[in-house]
Formats: sequence, structure tokens, C-alpha cells
Amino acid sequence: MLKTVSRPLRHLKGEIVIPSDKSVSHRAVMFSSIAKGSCIVRNFSSGADCHSTLNLFKALGVDIQFLDEKTLKIHSSGKLIPNKTNNIYPNNIYPCGNSGTTMRLVSGILARQNFDSVLTGDESLSKRPMKRIIEPLTLMGAEISSVDGHAPLSIKGRKLHGITYPSKLASAQVKSCILLAGLGADGETTFIEPSLSRNHTELMLEYLGADIKAEDCSVTIRPSELTARDIDIVGDISSAAFFIVAGLIVKGSDFVIKNVGLNPTRSGIIDVVMRMGGDIEILNKRTVSGEDVGDIRVRYTEKLRGCTIEGDDIPRLIDELPVIAVLASQADGETIVKDAGDLRNKESDRISCLARELTKIGVDIKEAEDGFIVNGKTKLNGGAEMESYHDHRLAMSFYIAGLVCEKEIAINGFEWTKISFPEFEELFSNLFK
Ligand code: S3P
Repeated sequence: MLKTVSRPLRHLKGEIVIPSDKSVSHRAVMFSSIAKGSCIVRNFSSGADCHSTLNLFKALGVDIQFLDEKTLKIHSSGKLIPNKTNNIYPNNIYPCGNSGTTMRLVSGILARQNFDSVLTGDESLSKRPMKRIIEPLTLMGAEISSVDGHAPLSIKGRKLHGITYPSKLASAQVKSCILLAGLGADGETTFIEPSLSRNHTELMLEYLGADIKAEDCSVTIRPSELTARDIDIVGDISSAAFFIVAGLIVKGSDFVIKNVGLNPTRSGIIDVVMRMGGDIEILNKRTVSGEDVGDIRVRYTEKLRGCTIEGDDIPRLIDELPVIAVLASQADGETIVKDAGDLRNKESDRISCLARELTKIGVDIKEAEDGFIVNGKTKLNGGAEMESYHDHRLAMSFYIAGLVCEKEIAINGFEWTKISFPEFEELFSNLFK
């Protein structure tokens, strides 16, 4: 689908409620499915990725029902049972769609079951690296075959044992996979990462009664049973990021984004915006089901300045880097992003694709091996067709760039926004009113 975007005729004003966090939604369904008992999950994501997780656990015998569009009732015995009647996925083959979180986290659960299974992905997911989970799982005794480190993954269920794993990557997906394997393994499992990645898994496992202890960049889990508890899912800061950047760069904007998850392992975008001189204010801070949450007031800022984003910053804003590149194009001076080489392994190679497409509309961006450098401030010409490479976050970042281009742009593959944020455009139209 080709989507055209042009400068808005009105200021962005008013108030929106940001939809459900994708990372937390995945975990709510996964962990409630392996917990004993019944619970209600409120504000579940409508994105396609989270529905891949939901369908997979339904097929594994978990009773999951929608009470309304965003509320789930989940009942589980704590055991997964493949091939029950009505199983929509024959032969224990479970499609994960576009979702890396589904494939990587579920692998940790399936590797320790008493049945075999296969996880498949779409074209993009089948190109993403899986050695990062296969290697540590194999050290735990798992048997997984892949196509040269890529999906499909064929998993032979077996008893696992705990390990201590110093990871080279700060990846919440790898960490969560190993913790979920460790939850049902013999002995203790410790995962150590170079910088702290998002800790939703640690928080939610603890909330559901797991024997888990986190300290700095190390987390240890002992075999334990989970007990179902109701979960309220906060709004997604990665979705809010598109609105934050739009508010800062579209002249005359002043609006409030409500119910945004502010977990410190995810809120790097807020720190960066402050470093860049952005006019942003956090209101009404509170805690919901163990997660920090607040409302964000954002206002157009004429004088933004570039900054350096590196090291421990990176895992705290990894998914926001494409839209930060757009923000940087409207800030004076250089914005340097480094230590972010794993951006090349996301739904697309987010370094090359971003640089190639933003250059088309006049952004001064240079690709580096582990990041990029944007020189601002630049008047964006627009007047180009931009390719989203089937990547939801690129499609939405280009939409934001389109709001400050001189001429209309067209975005190819805009329908991929459905992966994480089907409500994206409608929410924007509420602010244009
Ligand atoms: C996620 C972790 C991040 C992020 C992804 C979701 C998660 O990936 O990019 O969108 O929910 O755990 P990595 O952990 O691989 O960096």
C-alpha cells in the first residue's frame, strides 16, 4: 500500500491515549499461559506480532478468550499440550509471523517441553539471526536445528540444566529466552549482559511468583512455578516515540500522550529528547502491574541540538533510533549514534535502509558500521517515494518525516504498521482535528 503524507495544515493539539506495549503484551500471554490458574489481561496489543504469540499458545492448549477487543481471559493448567482438538497448527509447526520476540522467547519455553516442535517465520523473520539463542540453549542441553542459524527452528523437547551465561549482546530477547528456559531447568541459571536491556521479563516473572533475582546487569532464576495474576498492560513508549518526535518538530504542536510506559530500561528516548533541548514534561507518574507509567506533554521546540547516543543508552532506545534520526534532521549540529550495530538485525537492516531512504528526502545522514551520523538542521524537500522494506518502524518514522517535508512524500508498504501499531494513523488524525 502506497501512503501519501504531507505537511499538516493545522497544529497538533489535544490528547491521545497510547495503545498497549508490545513487549509487555507478548510476555503477559506467554507467562500467563505457563502459569497455573486464571487471570485477566487488560489492554492487550492489537498488533499482529502479539497475535502471533496469542495464536501459538491457543494452539498449545491454553484457554484464551477475548472478553472484549483488548481484554483477555487466560486459563492454564501450567502445562502446554500440543495437538489438542481444534489445533489450527498441524504437526506441531507454529508460525511466528514477523515477530522476533515470539520466536526467541517461545524457543526457551519449548526447548524444555516433553514434545517436539517447529517454529517458522515470515520472509523477514527467517533472515534474522537465531544463533544468539541456539548457542546458550544448546549449552543448557537443548537440541535445536536451524537453517544455518535461521528459522525454521526444529526443537526437540528435553530436560535442560542451568548455566551461567555471559552474553556479548545486550538483548532482552536473548535474556528472556534463557530465563524462560531456566524457569523449568534443573539448577540455577544466570544471565549476564554488557548493558541492561529491557527488564519486563524479570518484573513480570517476579510478579507471577518466580524465584528470580536481578542485580545490575546480571539476573539469576531458579526452577519455580508461576501463579496466574491479573495484568494491566501499560502504553507503549516505542509507539509514543513517533508522537513525541512529531510534537517536537511540527510547528505549533502542544499535546499530551497519556498512559505511556516509563520503565527506565525503555525510556532512553526521554533522556535523549531532554539532552537535545526538547520541550517535554512527564505528568501523573504512577505504577501499574509493576511497571512505571505516566503522561507526556510535548511541545514544538524551535531550538533542538544534536547529541551523541552510545553505550548504555542503546538498549534503552534501540527501537526508537529510526525516528530519532528524523528528529536529528531538525536539530542543529551533529547527532552521532554508535554501538548500535544490532540495528542491522531488526525487521530490516535499519542502518542501511534508514540512511538510503532519508537521503532521498534531503536528510544529511551518513551510515556507519554500528550506527549513523545526522547533520542538521535541514529543510526536507520530500517529493520522493520511500520504501519501508516491510518494516513497521521505518514506515512510521517516514510518516513523521513527511509531516515536515516541503513536498508530499509516498511511503511504500505502509500497511506494515499493523505489526505493532494498527491505530497509528487514526490517532494522528485525532491530533489534526
Ligand atoms: C524486544 C527486545 C528488543 C527490541 C524488540 C522487542 C523484547 O530486541 O528491539 O522490538 O520485547 O524483548 P533485542 O532484545 O533483540 O534487542
